[in-house]
Amino acid sequence: MFSKLIQRRTLGVLYCNLKAPLSSVTTAATEKPMEEALTSEYVFEREAKYGAHNYHPLPVALERGKGVYVWDVEGRKYFDFLSAYSAVNQGHCHPKIINALKCQAEKLTLTSRAFYSDVLGEYEEYITKLFNYNKVLPMNTGVESGETACKLARKWAYTVKGIPKYKAKIICAAGNFWGRTMSAISSSTDPSSYEGFGPFMPGFQIIPYNDLPALERAVQDPNVAAFMVEPIQGEAGVIVPDEGYLTGVRRLCTAHNVLFIADEVQTGLARTGKMLAVDHENVHPDMVMLGKALSGGVYPVSAVLCDDEVMLTIKPGEHGSTYGGNPVACRVAIASLEVIEEEKLAENATKMGELLRAELMKTPSNIVTDVRGKGLLNAIAIKQSKDFDAWKVCLRLRDNGLLAKPTHGDIIRLAPPLTIKEDEIRECIDIIHKTLLSF
Ligand SMILES: Cc1ncc(COP(=O)(O)O)c(C=O)c1O
Repeated sequence: MFSKLIQRRTLGVLYCNLKAPLSSVTTAATEKPMEEALTSEYVFEREAKYGAHNYHPLPVALERGKGVYVWDVEGRKYFDFLSAYSAVNQGHCHPKIINALKCQAEKLTLTSRAFYSDVLGEYEEYITKLFNYNKVLPMNTGVESGETACKLARKWAYTVKGIPKYKAKIICAAGNFWGRTMSAISSSTDPSSYEGFGPFMPGFQIIPYNDLPALERAVQDPNVAAFMVEPIQGEAGVIVPDEGYLTGVRRLCTAHNVLFIADEVQTGLARTGKMLAVDHENVHPDMVMLGKALSGGVYPVSAVLCDDEVMLTIKPGEHGSTYGGNPVACRVAIASLEVIEEEKLAENATKMGELLRAELMKTPSNIVTDVRGKGLLNAIAIKQSKDFDAWKVCLRLRDNGLLAKPTHGDIIRLAPPLTIKEDEIRECIDIIHKTLLSF
């Protein structure tokens, strides 16, 4: 078995070097009688045997993606209704983004920040003007943007606000999710995130989400540096706060000299129908965290945007990352942002999202108890029973050609790439209805 795998890998490298189109790779591979086709079962078993068990994937083994579609190793085609947790907003393998990646990868990949590159400044100028902030700090993953935002908030607290040394607090909302580092889990209210991993990082305080009076009470404490919040809570199950919440957050933070940090890692970059989800209320946070779709799902790229008063509190040598702001990341991010603008993905997300929610609301209420979301960040809540839960629905959706992931047993997130067209979303609505009604 192992030698067959080596053979398969060697063939894969060969085809890649020959620049063979994917179809001819498949044809060539299937023409070779000694080549054993990879099965989904084999993929599941190999991962279970050699990989850490820190995920519970839906059983589907993907090998290819294009636009709104992905294909498994047996060649079955699916609509992707997760978009890698909103990283693939621009659709799988978007040609412009892939081209940017390839061109830069052949020229210069990594300088580290020990030296300048010809691309970083171009990206910094572009992204800061696009979002109207003085400066950007580039990192790689979403959680690193959160760590960066917290460090900036603490440094600002001590050097600008005048909070006594190491007394700074960051307020977070219950149900938040911003990743898996020690700080992120220390501010989490989900036991599956933090249980068994203590001792925890001090300096975080939790208040309920969508609760302005609770925020008002919390910011009375002069040691509060920042309030970090998702404009819509994604991992919590697409929790949309009341209209006016973000405006109220802005007002309270300004009144009490507290930094408003918007975690737009999941909601940002056109997902909710605006470039940023805070744009729905026309508010300008002090810091914005971006990740995921900043690379269109091609490469880990994240960022924190803020103005000089906050950004310049961190001095040379006090924060960074070997890969953060590398030339490939910068080119990929520029292309990814351009695609969002050129293809008017925010407008499409608004239209397709309205259609999706309107049609899903027609599902009988004894099956679907709630349909919610903004743009193409949506979820349905189902009425759970012994034979009917979100996992079972997602398995049957898969069998019917659509991939989605459950959260919390009764919630299914529906977040396709923002490039989805009306006929495609109608086909998906039919699949979802047919699946739900089959139980
Ligand atoms: C709102 C939010 N912030 C931060 C993160 C962390 O991003 P990453 O997984 O790239 O570290 C996530 C990931 O799902 C997220 O949804």
